[in-house]
Amino acid sequence: MKYIIIIILACFTVVITSAQNPLVVPPALTGTTFNLKIQNGTTQFYPGINTPTYGINGALLAPTLIVNKWDWVTMNVSNTLTGFGNSTTIHWHGLHLPAADDGGPHQVIAQEGTWSPRFQILNNAGTFWYHPHGDGKTDLHVSKGLAGMIIIKDSTEAALMLPRTYGVDDFPIIVQTKSFDILNQIAIATEADTALCVNGTMSPYLNAPAQIIRLRLLNGSSMRTYNFGFTGNKTFKMIAGDAGLLDKPITLTRIRLSPGERAEILLDLTGLNGQTINLYSFSSELPNGIYGAKTVRSMMGGTIPEYSDNPLNGKDFSVLQINVVDQTSNPITDFPNTLTVNNPWKNYSVSRNFVLQPDSMMSGLGMVAGPFNINGAHFDMNRINVTTYLNTTEKWRITNNTGIAHPFHKHDIHFYLLNINGGAVPDYEKGKKDVVLVMPMQYVEFITKFEDFADESIPYMYHCHLLHHEDDGMMGSFRVIDTTSTSVEEQSQSNISIFPNPVSLTLNIKLQGDDIAGEIKVLNLLGTIILSKNINNNSSATVDVSGLSGGVYVAQIQSGNKTITKKFIKQ
Ligand code: C2O
Ligand code: CU
Ligand code: CU
Repeated sequence: MKYIIIIILACFTVVITSAQNPLVVPPALTGTTFNLKIQNGTTQFYPGINTPTYGINGALLAPTLIVNKWDWVTMNVSNTLTGFGNSTTIHWHGLHLPAADDGGPHQVIAQEGTWSPRFQILNNAGTFWYHPHGDGKTDLHVSKGLAGMIIIKDSTEAALMLPRTYGVDDFPIIVQTKSFDILNQIAIATEADTALCVNGTMSPYLNAPAQIIRLRLLNGSSMRTYNFGFTGNKTFKMIAGDAGLLDKPITLTRIRLSPGERAEILLDLTGLNGQTINLYSFSSELPNGIYGAKTVRSMMGGTIPEYSDNPLNGKDFSVLQINVVDQTSNPITDFPNTLTVNNPWKNYSVSRNFVLQPDSMMSGLGMVAGPFNINGAHFDMNRINVTTYLNTTEKWRITNNTGIAHPFHKHDIHFYLLNINGGAVPDYEKGKKDVVLVMPMQYVEFITKFEDFADESIPYMYHCHLLHHEDDGMMGSFRVIDTTSTSVEEQSQSNISIFPNPVSLTLNIKLQGDDIAGEIKVLNLLGTIILSKNINNNSSATVDVSGLSGGVYVAQIQSGNKTITKKFIKQ
């Protein structure tokens, strides 16, 4: 009996996934001022059934923002969401910009509020995206519909013979799976994300011209990784990864994208008029441990019923049906041979380790949901986990000590992979990236350089891009400090010296011509006292700072009736 039900369900799944809705192409906005209104709406994912959703300038998803490198843009983001506690943020995923404009959890947009960052577009041409990043609310807000694409153009890309007419031969493809509860409300923190949408369209088809087309693939899912390819194993050319063009096109039959990752691909439909080809996810080929594979393996075996019953997990399924129609008047019919020149950084002066680990044995036993942490810590709005220095080049090693693969994402600066678990990096991951999927019990290493923007108090984020993990605190923050400007600012207080600076173990404090009398306090940048020590009339003192986490602190010293303050950096 059980088997009969499963067979009936399987047939039913095939019926409801046959393509029946034209793919919605989100409207494009151009210019340098963008008015983005976050609003409530209603969407009919299933005919006749209204589901409450969120959108920007519409009921679901958001306009595609098309911007030029070097332009200064102003984003007027207003939050008109109703419902209790619905403040949010908007993060420009993959953009290199000041921390205050990044739209992380610290740049809250209150309900009825507007946030208007203005920044310069510094990234090269590529496919980026924007989505909410509120503390603990990312999954809810993204799943309810808040996500949009950003297309950056530049002169290098413009000089290439590439399809670039939006919605004609150049298409945004935002792939997401959603969970619906029995009342057809969007649900989160389930493993029942059985509904596949492209640009918010269920069972979509696209009429595409019989020439080379460009698909900008974005995995905007909360949890699911896809293994994209086409029916008949038709080859395609990858021309760009997360953050811009590759050196030259790569011929592929599959590309794996984990949540947050992007790829621009070219597909040659020349001569195929009247035929149909499907973009597929060949998820049966995904190694176990990746969300979307047959099993998300525990370290001890065992399965999660909701996960194993999900008809998409470990199966091959159609993502988008492409019906080939007539050529346009100026079709692209040849692939370019070369694209750009990437110059990966070579030498680094700092190495850091980030260990992804389960909070407890229970989450280590392969629960998809976690909770997980990074270096033993959960995200804390009031704590900065890592302090880096402007213009340093660093190697980051991300070690996954859990039974599930995590897509590690870093804000502000992209990176180049150095190795995957000590081995070679596949061609399709050799470009600039900002997300990398780290397999269970493996590590990856990448090189990155902290350029252009420093801010002592506002951090950027690094986190797992499985949104449920991120919301549960699998995230940390880093700030970039400009050491040169820190020392200039402090030269006025020249009767005090504090050394070494940066310090790792013991801070020495010396006053010239004065005695320290009273308390020495060490405060963090939020003004919280971290350490204090009493000193009686001595011109010098030492403070043990070995227990402080890395970052900028303020030493406050009493001398007579004067209070002297001086910043120092703990390494
Ligand atoms: Cu796409 Cu920190 O996020
Ligand atoms: Cu991001
Ligand atoms: Cu994770």
